[in-house]
Amino acid sequence: MEVKRIGINEAQSGMLVAKDVYNDSGQLLFPAEARLTEKAVTRMRFHAVPFITIYIEESSHDIDDGVDELSFFEKLRETEEFNEFNEQFTDAATTFEQEILRVLNEGGDADSMTLSNGVKKILGSCRSGIQVFDLLHCTRTYDEVIFAHSLNVAIISAVLGGWLGFSNADIETLILCGIYHDIGKLSIPKEIVDKAGPLSPEEYEIMKGHTTEGFKILKDKNLDKRVKLTALLHHERMDGSGYPLGVKGDKIDRFTRVVAIADVYEAMTAPRKYRKAGCPFEAVRIFESNGLAMYDTAYLLTFLEHITMCYMGYRVRLNDGSIGTIVYMNKQEESRPMIKVGSEYINLFKNPDLYIEEIL
Ligand SMILES: [Fe+2]
Repeated sequence: MEVKRIGINEAQSGMLVAKDVYNDSGQLLFPAEARLTEKAVTRMRFHAVPFITIYIEESSHDIDDGVDELSFFEKLRETEEFNEFNEQFTDAATTFEQEILRVLNEGGDADSMTLSNGVKKILGSCRSGIQVFDLLHCTRTYDEVIFAHSLNVAIISAVLGGWLGFSNADIETLILCGIYHDIGKLSIPKEIVDKAGPLSPEEYEIMKGHTTEGFKILKDKNLDKRVKLTALLHHERMDGSGYPLGVKGDKIDRFTRVVAIADVYEAMTAPRKYRKAGCPFEAVRIFESNGLAMYDTAYLLTFLEHITMCYMGYRVRLNDGSIGTIVYMNKQEESRPMIKVGSEYINLFKNPDLYIEEIL
């Protein structure tokens, strides 16, 4: 059978490994002639293994050579997996948009089951929480920002709920909380909602009204009360600094706390028509420096830890232009991991002037 060398970021469970995989110190990480597992790939990423050699089988034909000029995300965009994800995402967003507009125009209830099934289908097609974030990083096709954002927030909330140990039933509710959280934006003038630049103070005051407007739209609908409350309270903060009511801590339930984190993370990182995807490490840095008092601390720390672990072994560019691989996460500051550049190890935790600018 023919063999091929691939980048570790293309390694997928099920692939048949053709050569033993060792770490830098010569320890055998994975034997030849065995099939990869998700755990083995994570372990290889952990040890910063850059490439592995696999057998080319029927299912791996569409994988590019690992050593070329395309970035990981560019390559991902060309895969069958991404096409499938993108199709399901567009389907779910279209259904969501049609369903909501129908309810707003004709009254009645939205078909929540269909909406949450759309999200579950998207999640089911992804191998793990890790890959969902990679795929979300690449989507930028759906035009209506409110619907794409809400769908993304529903997906991220469901993944975070899983990391936090929420039950399946609670994750279903979380999905609906995410889907409906910004519904009130449909009552705000479109030129304000779609404005690419910063809002004026007056526009910002109008925009804040999407919380109470959302609650008004949902309050008489046949929906879980936590879904309605999330629409009202997802901009409230644990320290009382949020809006519209300025309530604190225990007045904000755990569903809203999850959506609040997912909402802000999505806004910072997701690609939009007018900008490319934001760097997850920059978002993590902002959460670390400003977010601990504003969000549920335990939820936020779980989120940041998992998100950054998703990128273990990924290639990154630092702000000084150097390119390296993430090899170790610093628990004290997740946004500042250890990077291997050539044969040198750079600990960002000890180099405050350096930071990750882009994931490649
Ligand atoms: Fe919002």
